[in-house]
Amino acid sequence: MTAQTHWQAWHEPYADENSPLSHRLRLVQQHIASWLDQRSDERLTVVSACAGQGHDLIGVLASRSDAQRVHATLLEYDAGNVAAAQAAAEQAGLCNLLIRQADAGQLSSYAGAVPADLVLMVGVFGNISDVDVERTIAALPQLCAEGATVIWTRGRRKSDLTPAVRQWLRDAGFMEQAFHAPSDVRFSVGVHRFEWSPQSLEPAGTVFTFLH
Ligand SMILES: C[S@@+](CC[C@H](N)C(=O)[O-])C[C@H]1O[C@@H](n2cnc3c(N)ncnc32)[C@H](O)[C@@H]1O
Repeated sequence: MTAQTHWQAWHEPYADENSPLSHRLRLVQQHIASWLDQRSDERLTVVSACAGQGHDLIGVLASRSDAQRVHATLLEYDAGNVAAAQAAAEQAGLCNLLIRQADAGQLSSYAGAVPADLVLMVGVFGNISDVDVERTIAALPQLCAEGATVIWTRGRRKSDLTPAVRQWLRDAGFMEQAFHAPSDVRFSVGVHRFEWSPQSLEPAGTVFTFLH
């Protein structure tokens, strides 16, 4: 058996439902479920950047009778995580999910997957430089369809970047729908709605590079 990579092992706290990571997952899932409840569209598109094993989206769709409305592309770099997400999607009977082994920091990886009605930036902003967070947010109008929702997360460390993240989102045309920053944990979860006009994808750009 080959050893787990860092990013495969990173998912282990999901096995403990009391872990902060599981707490964050439940919040993200609640927002995915309420987004689905609010949208009556027959067809909805989702893109998840750095999707990992897909616990958030797959976990919600697995129990939804309207899951076939959702056409999703999950971008994930680690081959083992791609395989785990594919296995979970198959087990849940989800056939409209495309799990792509790709670098989500390259805008070219989003070709054909955007504009999306829901963009998941979960577990991304804490692993890239502040400059890259700002650059990624500025590029979100290229990933978003009209009226899209973005769900994002970011840890709060000694220097809390979330006020800047929320300002950059405002500057890029997003209206805040929810922001959770529980006092007993370090994570935060934000939900923003895109209020401006979508921009076409400039596939030549790089928006972020992972630090780890
Ligand atoms: C912090 S985890 C978050 C996983 C998932 N979104 C979640 O919250 O459960 C970050 C994920 O990004 C993946 N990753 C790292 N660099 C990447 C890149 N350039 N493009 C796509 N995925 C990447 C890692 O393999 C890992 O699965």
